[in-house]
Amino acid sequence: MLKKIGETRKSFDEDLSKANDLASLEELRIKYLGRKGLVSQLFDSLQDVPKEEKRNVGQVLNELKLHTQSKFDELKNKFDKEKVSSESYIDLTLPGRKREVGSKHILIQTLDEIKEIFKGWGFSVYEGPELESDYYNFGALNFPADHPARDMQDTFFVSEDFLLRTHTSPVQIRLMEQKKPPIRALMPGKVFRNEAISAKSYCLFHQVEGLVVDTDITFAELKGTLVAFVKQFYGKDVPYRFRASFFPFTEPSAEMDVWWQPKGKEGRWLEILGCGMVDPNVLTNVGIDPEKYVGYAFGMGIERTAMRKYGIDDIRILFDNDKRFLTQF
Ligand code: PHE
Repeated sequence: MLKKIGETRKSFDEDLSKANDLASLEELRIKYLGRKGLVSQLFDSLQDVPKEEKRNVGQVLNELKLHTQSKFDELKNKFDKEKVSSESYIDLTLPGRKREVGSKHILIQTLDEIKEIFKGWGFSVYEGPELESDYYNFGALNFPADHPARDMQDTFFVSEDFLLRTHTSPVQIRLMEQKKPPIRALMPGKVFRNEAISAKSYCLFHQVEGLVVDTDITFAELKGTLVAFVKQFYGKDVPYRFRASFFPFTEPSAEMDVWWQPKGKEGRWLEILGCGMVDPNVLTNVGIDPEKYVGYAFGMGIERTAMRKYGIDDIRILFDNDKRFLTQF
């Protein structure tokens, strides 16, 4: 019996050394470790062993069982691991994933162009919050509490006192509270109005505010600056006009139009900005002496400016994020 056990162990070791994949290993398992395998058979024949040898033979047989099982487990583990790593190999025949390069949105490009022009004239760029208090958006800009001028800008109120800013003019106030004249500032940003959405109006748009405050500023300088701007931005032959207008925070006030000729359509005047001389009340509100200082301000709509320049006839397409549109610029 001991001899038989020894032979089984030897042949198991030989077979094991020949097993080179999961299939041959499975054959080996059935041959030795299966329910009717050689090791089980040896256990069965243990009953024929004389009583006094049983203990010794049983021990040797148990050792064989442990040996075969652990050797088998070891190799099975190794083959399993190799299988997993071979299945997760990289398939070099698959097509690669193309990385697309992003680009600046046409509105940001337009804003960059505007900034470049004004920077050349000594303007610095400032920004303010999109969530504003009633005071900065209206009160400090000389809108009396119940004045109908507030209706010019239908508003998203977040609470009684806070709202999504309806224009970039509150940044004028924030700037003048911190910085004393001379001021020459450009203040771009998003603004929000509760508008009925159409080809011309959207609930979100962009403005760029301009503010100049010094001791010797005149309306002629305001006009000259804006005319120089539209000529540089649209081309020197662009038809433009100023119309008298009203804003609570400027006096006198005007709006500027440029002629717009969409392809195949009738041309018309397009309003691109509001402007005027800073109202003395506004200067007083920020602690700047209106007897000593004068200023002008303007607020330009970026969407309209871009639409006029690039011949876009529907404002909504600027917010659709349709790549077929965006990649044209
Ligand atoms: N804030 C005004 C608007 O949004 C535009 C404006 C800015 C007018 C500065 C005058 C001076 O309509």
